[in-house]
Amino acid sequence: MDQLKGVVLHGGHGTRLRPLTHTGPKQLIPVANKPISQYVLEDLIEAGVKDTAIVLGDVYPEKVIDHYGDGSRFGVSITYIRQEEPKGIAHAVALCEKFVGGEPFVVYLGDNLLKGGIRRYAKAFTESNSDAMVLLCEVGDPQRFGVAKFDENGNLTGLVEKPREPPSNYALTGIYFFRPTVFKQITQLTPSWRGELEITEALQSLMEAGGHVSYEFVKGWWKDTGAPEDILESNRLILDELETNIQGTVEDPASIQGRVTLGRGSKVMKGSVVRGPAVIGEGTTIEPDAYIGPYTSIGNHVSFRCGEIENSIVMDDCQIDIRGRIADSIIGPGSDLATHRRNRTQAFRFTVGDHSRIML
Ligand code: TTP
Repeated sequence: MDQLKGVVLHGGHGTRLRPLTHTGPKQLIPVANKPISQYVLEDLIEAGVKDTAIVLGDVYPEKVIDHYGDGSRFGVSITYIRQEEPKGIAHAVALCEKFVGGEPFVVYLGDNLLKGGIRRYAKAFTESNSDAMVLLCEVGDPQRFGVAKFDENGNLTGLVEKPREPPSNYALTGIYFFRPTVFKQITQLTPSWRGELEITEALQSLMEAGGHVSYEFVKGWWKDTGAPEDILESNRLILDELETNIQGTVEDPASIQGRVTLGRGSKVMKGSVVRGPAVIGEGTTIEPDAYIGPYTSIGNHVSFRCGEIENSIVMDDCQIDIRGRIADSIIGPGSDLATHRRNRTQAFRFTVGDHSRIML
């Protein structure tokens, strides 16, 4: 069987996730305390991919290299390829031609999450003789995506980008399998209205040139985490599958309810309640009488002094001292949030980047 290579896209503008993307690429935002692109790398590894290129963008690419290194920590080899400007997914793919070196390969957008991984699809593709294979997911709002068009025999005949009148409810996910025949199509592309080389156009021209593009429907959920609400939804989806694992200390009387992970060196102090599903990293302290509610991820070395939180992500090294409730928030690492007066009437909602300081 051919050796499938991996390509993870780690570039892009990330405008919808500002201010979080002012200080790092969106693909490194943690969901259930793990960077999104690490789920992607783990899916590739599980599918048997040993050689992966990460295409770096211009937003703190050194943070990506710091995290993944040469890949040996994950038992694989990682090559970095620099995309100087976000000129489109097809542009990023074209930069990988030399790395791919004639082998079949899978392109996985570094901000996409797929329940159940890609193993079965990788097998289907390498055993086929398709030039490309796409993964399709049924969605309720196809107008937001690239949408598949089929003929009466169920063959894929086209892909339409964000159509007003969608030809089907099947959206193109961010996972594409290719043979090197795609590179020729990409060289013939011209930038779209948004100034990018579009991967949907490369697939379309591959089909028009007589290439065979097959597809599979994804089983389980798929999530593109381009906007804050998608990040929180992904956090809920991953935490839904969490298993209890308590390595830290729970003082008596404090209460852990439901499925909770508490990392090494973390402490839940007297009178506090953690109601799962929730994950708390290492070296974090939940001080007395705090409440950590469902669907919350709290990183490492956080000091949660006071208040309530639910459906939120708090990254490493934060200090939270809120006399009130935080909900539906994403709080960047090293942030310091405090209130002087109690706010009972409504929940605070934050989307704040690294090292923010908010005193209310
Ligand atoms: P998008 O989310 O469509 O692009 P973006 O990051 O520019 O988003 P925004 O609208 O918020 O500004 O990109 C999809 C994925 O592809 C994402 O993982 C980033 C990656 N990408 C690249 O690596 N290079 C590129 O040139 C582009 C456009 C995207």
